[in-house]
Amino acid sequence: MKTLKISTLKVNPILLAPMVDVTDLPYRLLCKEQGAGIVYTEMLHVEAIKHGEKKVHDKMRFDDKERPIGIQITFSELNTLKEIIPRLKDYDLVDINCGCPSHLTIDHGSGVCLMNSPEKVASAIKLLKKSGIKIVTLKIRLGFKKNNAVEFAKAVEKAGADAITVHGRLGNQGRSTPADWKEIEKVKKAVKIPVIGNGDVVDGKNAERLLEFCDGIMIARGAIGDPGIFHRINNYLKTKKEEKFDFVNNIKLFKKYLGYCEEYNLKDVNKIKYIGPDFIKGIKGASKLRAEFTKLKTFEEIRHFIEQF
Ligand SMILES: Cc1cc2nc3c(=O)[nH]c(=O)nc-3n(C[C@H](O)[C@H](O)[C@H](O)COP(=O)(O)O)c2cc1C
Repeated sequence: MKTLKISTLKVNPILLAPMVDVTDLPYRLLCKEQGAGIVYTEMLHVEAIKHGEKKVHDKMRFDDKERPIGIQITFSELNTLKEIIPRLKDYDLVDINCGCPSHLTIDHGSGVCLMNSPEKVASAIKLLKKSGIKIVTLKIRLGFKKNNAVEFAKAVEKAGADAITVHGRLGNQGRSTPADWKEIEKVKKAVKIPVIGNGDVVDGKNAERLLEFCDGIMIARGAIGDPGIFHRINNYLKTKKEEKFDFVNNIKLFKKYLGYCEEYNLKDVNKIKYIGPDFIKGIKGASKLRAEFTKLKTFEEIRHFIEQF
Protein backbone atom coordinates (compact mmCIF):
# COMPACT_ATOMS: atom_id res chain seq x y z
CA MET A 1 0.00 0.00 0.00
CA LYS A 2 1.33 3.43 -0.99
CA THR A 3 2.12 6.14 1.55
CA LEU A 4 1.55 9.75 0.59
CA LYS A 5 4.42 11.99 1.66
CA ILE A 6 3.78 15.72 1.71
CA SER A 7 6.75 17.50 3.24
CA THR A 8 6.96 16.03 6.78
CA LEU A 9 3.55 14.32 6.63
CA LYS A 10 3.28 10.62 5.87
CA VAL A 11 -0.30 9.50 5.42
CA ASN A 12 -2.66 7.03 3.85
CA PRO A 13 -3.15 8.33 0.28
CA ILE A 14 -6.98 8.26 0.24
CA LEU A 15 -8.13 11.77 1.19
CA LEU A 16 -11.48 13.37 1.99
CA ALA A 17 -12.09 16.37 -0.30
CA PRO A 18 -13.11 19.73 1.11
CA MET A 19 -16.86 20.20 0.59
CA VAL A 20 -18.99 23.23 1.44
CA ASP A 21 -21.83 22.25 3.79
CA VAL A 22 -20.56 18.69 4.13
CA THR A 23 -17.09 18.47 5.68
CA ASP A 24 -17.77 19.89 9.12
CA LEU A 25 -15.98 18.61 12.23
CA PRO A 26 -18.37 15.67 12.91
CA TYR A 27 -18.27 14.53 9.29
CA ARG A 28 -14.51 14.80 8.98
CA LEU A 29 -14.03 12.86 12.21
CA LEU A 30 -16.28 10.09 10.92
CA CYS A 31 -14.33 9.87 7.63
CA LYS A 32 -11.03 9.95 9.49
CA GLU A 33 -12.14 6.98 11.61
CA GLN A 34 -13.07 5.16 8.40
CA GLY A 35 -9.56 5.62 6.99
CA ALA A 36 -9.28 9.03 5.27
CA GLY A 37 -5.59 10.05 5.24
CA ILE A 38 -6.12 13.83 5.39
CA VAL A 39 -9.34 15.76 5.98
CA TYR A 40 -10.00 19.41 5.09
CA THR A 41 -12.36 22.11 6.22
CA GLU A 42 -14.72 23.40 3.58
CA MET A 43 -13.39 26.31 1.51
CA LEU A 44 -13.31 29.55 3.49
CA HIS A 45 -12.74 32.94 1.92
CA VAL A 46 -10.06 34.95 3.70
CA GLU A 47 -12.53 37.89 3.92
CA ALA A 48 -14.95 35.65 5.83
CA ILE A 49 -12.16 34.55 8.18
CA LYS A 50 -11.22 38.21 8.73
CA HIS A 51 -14.80 39.12 9.71
CA GLY A 52 -14.93 36.04 11.95
CA GLU A 53 -18.68 35.47 12.29
CA LYS A 54 -19.86 32.61 14.52
CA LYS A 55 -20.71 30.52 11.45
CA VAL A 56 -17.15 30.81 10.15
CA HIS A 57 -15.75 30.15 13.61
CA ASP A 58 -17.74 26.88 13.71
CA LYS A 59 -16.47 25.92 10.27
CA MET A 60 -12.89 26.47 11.45
CA ARG A 61 -13.20 24.34 14.59
CA PHE A 62 -11.41 21.01 14.66
CA ASP A 63 -10.45 18.29 17.10
CA ASP A 64 -6.88 17.00 17.42
CA LYS A 65 -8.28 13.54 16.65
CA GLU A 66 -8.72 14.73 13.05
CA ARG A 67 -5.03 15.38 12.47
CA PRO A 68 -3.55 15.76 9.98
CA ILE A 69 -6.11 18.37 9.02
CA GLY A 70 -5.94 21.05 6.35
CA ILE A 71 -7.78 24.34 6.24
CA GLN A 72 -8.85 25.27 2.74
CA ILE A 73 -8.88 28.96 1.91
CA THR A 74 -9.37 31.09 -1.15
CA PHE A 75 -8.48 34.73 -1.61
CA SER A 76 -8.33 37.59 -4.03
CA GLU A 77 -6.42 40.22 -2.00
CA LEU A 78 -2.96 39.33 -0.73
CA ASN A 79 -3.31 41.97 2.01
CA THR A 80 -6.34 40.24 3.51
CA LEU A 81 -4.55 36.91 3.30
CA LYS A 82 -1.62 38.44 5.19
CA GLU A 83 -3.92 39.71 7.96
CA ILE A 84 -5.48 36.32 8.69
CA ILE A 85 -2.34 34.15 8.59
CA PRO A 86 -2.17 33.87 12.42
CA ARG A 87 -5.58 32.12 12.27
CA LEU A 88 -4.13 29.40 10.00
CA LYS A 89 -1.23 28.32 12.17
CA ASP A 90 -2.86 25.50 14.16
CA TYR A 91 -3.67 23.38 11.12
CA ASP A 92 -1.26 20.83 9.70
CA LEU A 93 -1.47 22.39 6.26
CA VAL A 94 -3.07 25.24 4.35
CA ASP A 95 -4.67 24.38 1.02
CA ILE A 96 -5.39 27.18 -1.47
CA ASN A 97 -8.53 26.65 -3.51
CA CYS A 98 -7.91 27.49 -7.16
CA GLY A 99 -10.85 25.45 -8.42
CA CYS A 100 -14.18 26.70 -7.13
CA PRO A 101 -16.30 27.85 -10.11
CA SER A 102 -19.31 29.25 -8.19
CA HIS A 103 -20.25 32.81 -9.08
CA LEU A 104 -20.08 33.94 -5.49
CA THR A 105 -16.40 33.00 -5.57
CA ILE A 106 -15.26 33.91 -9.09
CA ASP A 107 -17.04 37.27 -9.08
CA HIS A 108 -14.43 38.29 -6.49
CA GLY A 109 -11.52 36.92 -8.53
CA SER A 110 -10.90 33.94 -6.25
CA GLY A 111 -11.46 30.16 -6.68
CA VAL A 112 -10.79 28.95 -10.22
CA CYS A 113 -10.14 32.57 -11.35
CA LEU A 114 -6.80 32.24 -9.57
CA MET A 115 -5.69 29.85 -12.30
CA ASN A 116 -5.45 32.93 -14.54
CA SER A 117 -3.11 34.59 -12.01
CA PRO A 118 -0.22 32.19 -11.33
CA GLU A 119 2.02 35.08 -10.18
CA LYS A 120 -0.50 36.14 -7.53
CA VAL A 121 -0.83 32.55 -6.29
CA ALA A 122 2.97 32.22 -6.25
CA SER A 123 3.14 35.36 -4.07
CA ALA A 124 0.52 33.88 -1.72
CA ILE A 125 2.52 30.66 -1.33
CA LYS A 126 5.70 32.62 -0.59
CA LEU A 127 3.86 34.87 1.87
CA LEU A 128 2.39 31.90 3.76
CA LYS A 129 5.74 30.13 3.91
CA LYS A 130 7.60 33.26 5.01
CA SER A 131 5.01 33.71 7.78
CA GLY A 132 5.66 30.27 9.25
CA ILE A 133 3.07 28.06 7.51
CA LYS A 134 5.08 24.90 6.98
CA ILE A 135 2.93 23.04 4.46
CA VAL A 136 1.10 24.82 1.65
CA THR A 137 -0.83 22.83 -0.95
CA LEU A 138 -3.16 23.76 -3.79
CA LYS A 139 -6.35 22.33 -5.21
CA ILE A 140 -6.75 23.22 -8.85
CA ARG A 141 -8.87 22.36 -11.87
CA LEU A 142 -7.42 21.89 -15.35
CA GLY A 143 -7.90 25.61 -15.96
CA PHE A 144 -10.64 28.22 -15.89
CA LYS A 145 -11.89 28.05 -19.48
CA LYS A 146 -8.66 26.87 -21.12
CA ASN A 147 -6.37 24.09 -19.93
CA ASN A 148 -3.24 25.57 -18.28
CA ALA A 149 -2.85 22.97 -15.53
CA VAL A 150 0.73 21.97 -16.42
CA GLU A 151 2.09 25.54 -16.61
CA PHE A 152 0.19 26.49 -13.45
CA ALA A 153 1.46 23.45 -11.54
CA LYS A 154 5.06 24.20 -12.58
CA ALA A 155 4.69 27.83 -11.45
CA VAL A 156 3.34 26.93 -8.01
CA GLU A 157 5.93 24.20 -7.55
CA LYS A 158 8.62 26.80 -8.21
CA ALA A 159 7.01 29.12 -5.64
CA GLY A 160 7.31 26.43 -2.95
CA ALA A 161 4.01 24.50 -2.99
CA ASP A 162 4.31 21.16 -1.19
CA ALA A 163 1.67 19.23 -3.15
CA ILE A 164 -1.09 19.81 -5.63
CA THR A 165 -4.52 18.24 -6.03
CA VAL A 166 -5.86 18.21 -9.57
CA HIS A 167 -9.60 17.98 -10.18
CA GLY A 168 -9.72 16.80 -13.79
CA ARG A 169 -12.22 19.32 -15.16
CA LEU A 170 -12.14 22.90 -16.42
CA GLY A 171 -13.87 25.59 -14.38
CA ASN A 172 -16.69 25.79 -16.90
CA GLN A 173 -17.30 22.03 -17.01
CA GLY A 174 -20.09 20.62 -14.91
CA ARG A 175 -20.09 17.36 -13.01
CA SER A 176 -21.76 15.55 -15.92
CA THR A 177 -18.51 15.88 -17.91
CA PRO A 178 -16.27 12.97 -16.89
CA ALA A 179 -13.08 14.00 -15.07
CA ASP A 180 -10.12 13.77 -17.47
CA TRP A 181 -7.55 11.60 -15.72
CA LYS A 182 -5.15 11.77 -18.70
CA GLU A 183 -4.76 15.50 -18.06
CA ILE A 184 -4.10 14.78 -14.38
CA GLU A 185 -1.35 12.39 -15.47
CA LYS A 186 0.24 15.14 -17.59
CA VAL A 187 0.52 17.30 -14.47
CA LYS A 188 2.01 14.41 -12.52
CA LYS A 189 4.68 13.97 -15.18
CA ALA A 190 5.50 17.69 -15.24
CA VAL A 191 6.26 18.27 -11.53
CA LYS A 192 8.25 16.63 -8.74
CA ILE A 193 5.93 17.50 -5.84
CA PRO A 194 3.19 14.97 -4.95
CA VAL A 195 0.11 15.07 -7.18
CA ILE A 196 -3.27 14.02 -5.80
CA GLY A 197 -5.86 13.03 -8.40
CA ASN A 198 -9.49 14.01 -7.99
CA GLY A 199 -12.69 13.36 -9.90
CA ASP A 200 -15.14 10.44 -10.16
CA VAL A 201 -13.56 8.03 -7.67
CA VAL A 202 -16.36 5.77 -6.46
CA ASP A 203 -14.88 2.38 -5.59
CA GLY A 204 -11.71 0.40 -4.93
CA LYS A 205 -11.12 -0.55 -8.53
CA ASN A 206 -11.16 2.96 -9.95
CA ALA A 207 -9.28 4.31 -6.90
CA GLU A 208 -6.52 1.81 -7.69
CA ARG A 209 -6.40 2.95 -11.35
CA LEU A 210 -5.98 6.61 -10.38
CA LEU A 211 -3.36 5.64 -7.80
CA GLU A 212 -1.32 3.93 -10.52
CA PHE A 213 -0.02 7.34 -11.60
CA CYS A 214 -0.97 9.68 -8.73
CA ASP A 215 0.62 9.92 -5.29
CA GLY A 216 -2.77 10.17 -3.63
CA ILE A 217 -6.45 10.45 -4.49
CA MET A 218 -9.20 12.67 -3.12
CA ILE A 219 -12.87 11.72 -2.84
CA ALA A 220 -15.79 14.16 -2.68
CA ARG A 221 -19.25 13.04 -3.86
CA GLY A 222 -18.51 9.36 -3.27
CA ALA A 223 -18.10 10.17 0.43
CA ILE A 224 -21.34 12.13 0.88
CA GLY A 225 -23.58 10.01 3.10
CA ASP A 226 -21.10 7.13 2.77
CA PRO A 227 -18.06 7.65 5.02
CA GLY A 228 -17.51 3.86 4.82
CA ILE A 229 -16.11 4.38 1.29
CA PHE A 230 -12.71 5.03 2.88
CA HIS A 231 -12.78 1.71 4.70
CA ARG A 232 -13.92 -0.16 1.56
CA ILE A 233 -11.28 1.41 -0.71
CA ASN A 234 -8.47 0.83 1.79
CA ASN A 235 -9.63 -2.75 2.16
CA TYR A 236 -9.74 -3.23 -1.62
CA LEU A 237 -6.20 -1.94 -1.99
CA LYS A 238 -5.04 -4.52 0.55
CA THR A 239 -7.15 -7.53 -0.49
CA LYS A 240 -8.26 -6.78 -4.10
CA LYS A 241 -11.78 -7.70 -2.98
CA GLU A 242 -14.55 -5.13 -3.44
CA GLU A 243 -16.64 -5.05 -0.26
CA LYS A 244 -20.34 -4.40 -0.77
CA PHE A 245 -21.92 -1.20 0.52
CA ASP A 246 -23.58 -2.15 3.83
CA PHE A 247 -26.66 -0.03 4.52
CA VAL A 248 -27.07 -1.32 8.10
CA ASN A 249 -23.55 -0.18 8.90
CA ASN A 250 -24.22 3.10 7.09
CA ILE A 251 -27.18 3.88 9.34
CA LYS A 252 -24.93 3.15 12.35
CA LEU A 253 -22.46 5.69 10.93
CA PHE A 254 -25.26 8.23 10.53
CA LYS A 255 -26.18 7.74 14.19
CA LYS A 256 -22.52 8.22 15.10
CA TYR A 257 -22.48 11.43 13.04
CA LEU A 258 -25.52 12.74 14.92
CA GLY A 259 -23.76 11.83 18.18
CA TYR A 260 -20.73 13.90 17.15
CA CYS A 261 -22.97 16.82 16.16
CA GLU A 262 -24.32 16.75 19.71
CA GLU A 263 -20.95 16.22 21.37
CA TYR A 264 -19.37 19.18 19.54
CA ASN A 265 -22.55 21.27 19.70
CA LEU A 266 -22.65 21.60 15.91
CA LYS A 267 -26.30 20.72 15.35
CA ASP A 268 -26.92 22.50 12.06
CA VAL A 269 -30.28 21.05 10.98
CA ASN A 270 -30.03 22.37 7.42
CA LYS A 271 -26.64 20.74 6.95
CA ILE A 272 -27.82 17.44 8.43
CA LYS A 273 -30.87 17.54 6.17
CA TYR A 274 -28.60 18.17 3.18
CA ILE A 275 -26.45 15.08 3.67
CA GLY A 276 -28.98 12.91 5.56
CA PRO A 277 -30.86 11.54 2.51
CA ASP A 278 -27.55 10.21 1.13
CA PHE A 279 -27.13 8.13 4.27
CA ILE A 280 -30.51 6.51 3.66
CA LYS A 281 -29.78 4.40 0.62
CA GLY A 282 -29.96 0.72 -0.11
CA ILE A 283 -32.78 0.26 2.42
CA LYS A 284 -36.14 -1.18 1.32
CA GLY A 285 -38.46 1.77 0.62
CA ALA A 286 -35.55 4.24 0.69
CA SER A 287 -37.20 6.83 -1.55
CA LYS A 288 -40.28 7.04 0.71
CA LEU A 289 -38.04 7.26 3.77
CA ARG A 290 -35.98 10.02 2.17
CA ALA A 291 -39.16 11.97 1.40
CA GLU A 292 -40.21 11.62 5.07
CA PHE A 293 -36.71 12.66 6.19
CA THR A 294 -36.85 15.92 4.24
CA LYS A 295 -39.97 16.96 6.23
CA LEU A 296 -38.20 16.77 9.60
CA LYS A 297 -37.67 20.10 11.32
CA THR A 298 -35.53 19.71 14.43
CA PHE A 299 -32.42 17.81 15.50
CA GLU A 300 -34.52 15.78 17.94
CA GLU A 301 -36.96 14.80 15.16
CA ILE A 302 -34.02 13.67 13.01
CA ARG A 303 -32.56 11.65 15.85
CA HIS A 304 -35.91 10.04 16.60
CA PHE A 305 -36.44 9.21 12.93
CA ILE A 306 -33.05 7.49 12.64
CA GLU A 307 -33.55 5.53 15.89
CA GLN A 308 -36.34 3.53 14.17
CA PHE A 309 -33.71 1.65 12.11
C1 LIG B 1 -21.29 19.55 -2.13
C2 LIG B 1 -19.92 19.86 -2.67
C3 LIG B 1 -19.17 20.87 -2.09
C4 LIG B 1 -17.88 21.16 -2.56
N1 LIG B 1 -17.13 22.10 -1.92
C5 LIG B 1 -15.81 22.24 -2.25
C6 LIG B 1 -14.93 23.05 -1.46
O1 LIG B 1 -15.31 23.64 -0.46
N2 LIG B 1 -13.64 23.14 -1.87
C7 LIG B 1 -13.15 22.46 -2.97
O2 LIG B 1 -11.97 22.55 -3.28
N3 LIG B 1 -13.97 21.71 -3.72
C8 LIG B 1 -15.26 21.56 -3.37
N4 LIG B 1 -16.06 20.70 -4.08
C9 LIG B 1 -15.46 19.93 -5.21
C10 LIG B 1 -14.92 18.60 -4.72
O3 LIG B 1 -13.95 18.75 -3.71
C11 LIG B 1 -14.32 17.78 -5.87
O4 LIG B 1 -13.24 18.47 -6.43
C12 LIG B 1 -15.31 17.46 -6.98
O5 LIG B 1 -16.60 17.15 -6.46
C13 LIG B 1 -14.83 16.27 -7.82
O6 LIG B 1 -14.61 15.13 -7.01
P1 LIG B 1 -15.66 13.90 -6.95
O7 LIG B 1 -15.85 13.41 -8.34
O8 LIG B 1 -15.01 12.89 -6.03
O9 LIG B 1 -16.95 14.45 -6.42
C14 LIG B 1 -17.36 20.42 -3.66
C15 LIG B 1 -18.13 19.41 -4.24
C16 LIG B 1 -19.39 19.12 -3.76
C17 LIG B 1 -20.18 18.01 -4.39
